[in-house]
Amino acid sequence: MKVLYFSATGNCLYVAKRLGGELLSIPQLQKKGIYEITGDVVGIVCPVYGFTLPNLVKEYLEKATIKAEYVFSIMTFGNLSIAALTQMKKAFEKQGVQLHYSNQIRMVDNYLPIFEVSSQLKKNKDESIEVKINNIVSDIKERKQSCVKHGGFQKSISNIISALWGNKKMVNKRDNNFTVSELCNGCGTCRNVCPVGNIAGSGKPEYQHRCEFCLACIHLCPKNAIHLKNERSDKRFINPHVKLSELIQANKQD
Ligand SMILES: Cc1cc2nc3c(=O)[nH]c(=O)nc-3n(C[C@H](O)[C@H](O)[C@H](O)COP(=O)(O)O)c2cc1C
Repeated sequence: MKVLYFSATGNCLYVAKRLGGELLSIPQLQKKGIYEITGDVVGIVCPVYGFTLPNLVKEYLEKATIKAEYVFSIMTFGNLSIAALTQMKKAFEKQGVQLHYSNQIRMVDNYLPIFEVSSQLKKNKDESIEVKINNIVSDIKERKQSCVKHGGFQKSISNIISALWGNKKMVNKRDNNFTVSELCNGCGTCRNVCPVGNIAGSGKPEYQHRCEFCLACIHLCPKNAIHLKNERSDKRFINPHVKLSELIQANKQD
């Protein structure tokens, strides 16, 4: 089994690890130009961004050739995913790939403009996440065929928001809302966790306006020196089952 994943703050990496098999980071596959994925079972684990797929996952799928007997997709989300899994199914179908199984897991919402990490941690208990992951693991083992279905209203909302989210000119420049405080010691963690190589410079981060807006640089800064202008609080998140070094290994671009 091959599990392709993208993760900014570790939720998806944790889920991918729990699924097992060969884990392949999408930012690393993109960096190496690997777009042919063959296996008996191939799956994707990624977060919901703006009720749809992260742009880098969408772009990867647009170039990828996936050949497998059984294909699945798991999305983690925080509060409202609307029809993100239907968007994912459409992205596979565009490539002529049939998705056999899809599911989603509610975890801590890392979207700082709207949610506050402390209350998210209280709301999302490990036990219920574990139950959900265990069910998904056994579904995939049994090669269960079922995709989450959405009604027309949900699909319409997801279509509208995903069109906005897919507007890269707008999203890429959202790093204009990041500020860096004097606590920055130039350690380079932000550069190393950025999945799209958007951070230049050898000291303080210099954003290059091709931002994925995944917020990895903000959440994972060891000095908590990077802020979003409209963040709800300065509390940060990394999934407790995942190490910073694993996210660096997954996302580092240079
Ligand atoms: C830019 C951005 C957009 C997001 N949009 C949504 C959303 O539309 N719905 C939702 O429920 N969660 C949303 N989230 C929350 C993430 O999907 C969720 O926290 C996910 O588990 C993070 O996975 P990761 O830790 O592997 O990066 C968003 C997060 C970010 C950073």
